[in-house]
Order: sequence, then structure tokens, then C-alpha cells
Amino acid sequence: MREWTLEERYRILQSEDEIRDLHEKIKKSVYRQTYHVQPVTGLSNDPNGFVYHDGWWHLFYQWCPWGAVHGLKYWYHVISKDLVHWKNVGVGLKPDSFYDNKGAYSGSAISLKNELYFFYTGNHRDDDWTRTAYTCAGKLDDGGRIQKYPEPLFGPREDYSDHQRDPKIVFNKEKNKYFLFIGAQTLLKKGSVLIYESDTLLHGWSFAGQLHVQGFEDFGFMWECPDIVNISGKDVLIFSPQGLKLPGRGANTNHNVYLIGTMDYDTLTFTPDTGYQHLDHGFDFYAAQEAYQTEDPDRAILIAWMGLPDNHYPTGQEEWEGSLTLPRELRIRDGKLIQTPVAAISELRDKKIESETVLPDTCELLLTLDGSDMDLKLFTKEDGRGGVVIHYDSNRKVCSIDRSGMELRFNETLGEILDMPLSNPLTSLRIFIDKSSLEIFANDGEAAFTSHVYPTASEHYYTKSNNAVLEIWSLMASVRDDFVIE
Ligand code: FRU
Repeated sequence: MREWTLEERYRILQSEDEIRDLHEKIKKSVYRQTYHVQPVTGLSNDPNGFVYHDGWWHLFYQWCPWGAVHGLKYWYHVISKDLVHWKNVGVGLKPDSFYDNKGAYSGSAISLKNELYFFYTGNHRDDDWTRTAYTCAGKLDDGGRIQKYPEPLFGPREDYSDHQRDPKIVFNKEKNKYFLFIGAQTLLKKGSVLIYESDTLLHGWSFAGQLHVQGFEDFGFMWECPDIVNISGKDVLIFSPQGLKLPGRGANTNHNVYLIGTMDYDTLTFTPDTGYQHLDHGFDFYAAQEAYQTEDPDRAILIAWMGLPDNHYPTGQEEWEGSLTLPRELRIRDGKLIQTPVAAISELRDKKIESETVLPDTCELLLTLDGSDMDLKLFTKEDGRGGVVIHYDSNRKVCSIDRSGMELRFNETLGEILDMPLSNPLTSLRIFIDKSSLEIFANDGEAAFTSHVYPTASEHYYTKSNNAVLEIWSLMASVRDDFVIE
């Protein structure tokens, strides 16, 4: 992997001409996806500012233009009518002020009375590299650009470490107030969430206190990207805890979990009904954000970064990496989130594939199963060797997914086999493949599993056990790869 100097990573983009050739080059990559949002150049990480506003879904991603490196972060803007067909709009937020001189970090959006407001972290660093995190705001102007407010809403608290970021804006009807949930680290290096409150969006913010989550006082050293959403009367707290190993998750120390329970805005206490659950059981899933929308109180829409902090991917050689996951609908059933890809994804189905051996490089697989043991191998060589091996063990009710058989291996030290545990016997799998990604939904959304995967030219075959009835659809492209910067 290439070494980057600080100057190279934190270079300010002066003109689109500086990255035009890079875009042309990466466009030709065989791993460029066709129905996933991915970086126009360089690196994408967290989804930001995900919101439904005035007939459009707006979405941004953390973007470093220069290559597969976490350096100076911008927000890059894409829009869609249906959450499936996305088009590039250009740079949403530039790190061009004192307060965000080393990055416009993650944040969220809210639509209010025909206006669209944004809240994000200005990552400021002094010359001696001391960090100060400012909570900043902006508003979409008539031309579709975000205008930043010149002054931050507030700076960091001194009684926490310098890790304070990723404001999620929430409106609470009962209290008729706005709240910002901010990921933080205590001075004792414990992950936590800071809560600020205000009667109005752009003024009068005050610190309400630290969120109490019973039983989670010592759960990792930092909680990134906190989010809270009410679904069917239940509160769901979503966050990405760092710095802890969790059972069944290999050597990985970056996770994305959720708790279902009740949020009390008077005492700032979240009381979970049960323990934490994983949003996704796969290798590459982090920093999920749920979209602000008021359309349907029984479902939320969620999207995540298909990737992990501290890891890199084979397309890094081509100077780009990362993508977002498919957006998912979240519902609650039997004390857990049921996650299904958004409905409009079915419109991408093109042709039904008749081959019993060849796997198209963008497709949807539908497997109907009988609850007994099952084997499925994807991306094998023609003779059936290698590939990603999916095995269902009916005694344990666990699907295990092993990617160690692929030619291009990456992040091996985290572990290359992970389990997706189920509560019910496995009766269906819905699998999405897009050039360099694999997303698996089991039992109509009971569990999900996301992984990058980089098949070589000879790895395009599949095999399955006889008890699996399989239908394969090739899928049409839905995400445009246009070079739009301004
Ligand atoms: C999570 C994260 C956020 C931060 C952003 C910077 O992946 O570290 O906490 O705002 O990425 O790109």
C-alpha cells in the first residue's frame, strides 16, 4: 500500500482538473460497482446528511478525493427519487474554514418547513496537530448547495477527550425540542454520547448531559456515529463502538450495534429491552445512518459504509476504495430489527439467468431452502474450487461465511470466517452481488451480512447443494458514475 505524507493527505482540492484523470482511470476498474454509491475518486467512508426532502432523497458520503487514504474529508452529494437510482450532484461541504480546516466530518440533516438543515463536525487541528471538534451547521440554498453558518453552534467540552463528533439531529415531539446526539469519549476513555438541546435549530444550544445507557457504561473506548430513531413506538439506539472485541466477531474491534428500548428525554436515559444486537454480521459494515423522514412511523431507512476503519481494500492499488451499502428498510419484529433492501431494488431485475454454473458479476440470487443443512459456493473457479463458502448448520441455526478461498484476500488478520446466527431455521436467502460486493439477507430480513469481495477473471462460477432452489436475476445499473465536482 502506498505511503502518504500529511501534506498529500490533507491537500485542499483547488480545481476539478486535479482529479479528472483519476476519475477516468478508476472508472475503468472491473471492481467499479453499478448499483451502489461509491466515491467519484479516492475514498468514501460514512454516509452523512441522509434525508428525504421535497420529493428527493439526499445522501452524502465522507470523501477524500486523493486516493485510498483517510485524509482531508469533504461531503460528496448524491440524490435519488427512489433510493436506488442515484446521481452525482457534486461536493456538498468543503473543509474551507478555520473550524473545519482538517475535515468536514460526519453529521446529519433535518427537513423543516421547506428548508434543509445540516449538522456536522468541523475537525480543526492547530499547527501542533492538537484537535478541536466544533459542531457546525449549514442550510441548502436555492441552487442546491449547502451554505455553512460562519460560526459553529458550539465547541467541544473540556471534561471529555478531544473525540467528540458526528452530530445526529433529532426532534422530540413530547418535549417540542431539538436534540443533538454526539459520539464521544470520556476522560477515562469510555465510549459515550453527549446530548445537546435547543428550542430552535440554529441558536440556543445547551449541553443537556451524557446519555445513560444502563449496562453500557464500559463498552469500548469511543462511540462513533450515534443515531436514534423511533419505529412502531420503540426507540432504537444505533452506534459504532470502537476498541473492543465482541464474541463471534474475530479480531475486529470496530462494530455497528443497536439497542431496542425506551429513551427518556427528561433523565437522558436509554433503557434497553435486551442486550446489544449487530446490525449486520458481515466483514464490512460500519457507521450506519438512518434517514430523517416522517413518512412512515413503522419503518426507517438505513444505509452504512461498506468498510471498516483501519482497514484497506484491494482497489486501493487503483487509488480508490469504499462504497455505501444498499439502503435498507428497518422494521421491528420479535424484539429485533428486520432489514430488507428497499422495495425499488426489484425494478433493477433484467434477465432471469438459466445457467446452472455461471454467476453474473451483477445479480440477485433468491434461494428457497427447507431449513436443513445447505451449502452454497459463490465466485468459485470453473472446477468448483475456491470462492466464498456459505454453509448453513441446522443444528446451530447458523450460517457461516468463509471468504478465505478467494484469490484476492484482504484484511485477513481480522478473521476470514464469520457466523450469521438465526433465530429460525433458514428458509430463504436473498443475495445481491455487484462487482466487488456481496450482501446477504436471510429469512426475509431476520439477519444481514455484508462483505466486499474482489473476484478475479476466473472466479465467476457457483455450486450449491440440491436442497436449495435457486433463481438468479441479472441486474441493471442504477448509479451514475459521472464526474461532477462543483
Ligand atoms: C467514522 C468516522 C467519524 C468521523 C468520520 C471521519 O468512520 O471516524 O467518527 O466523523 O469517520 O471521516
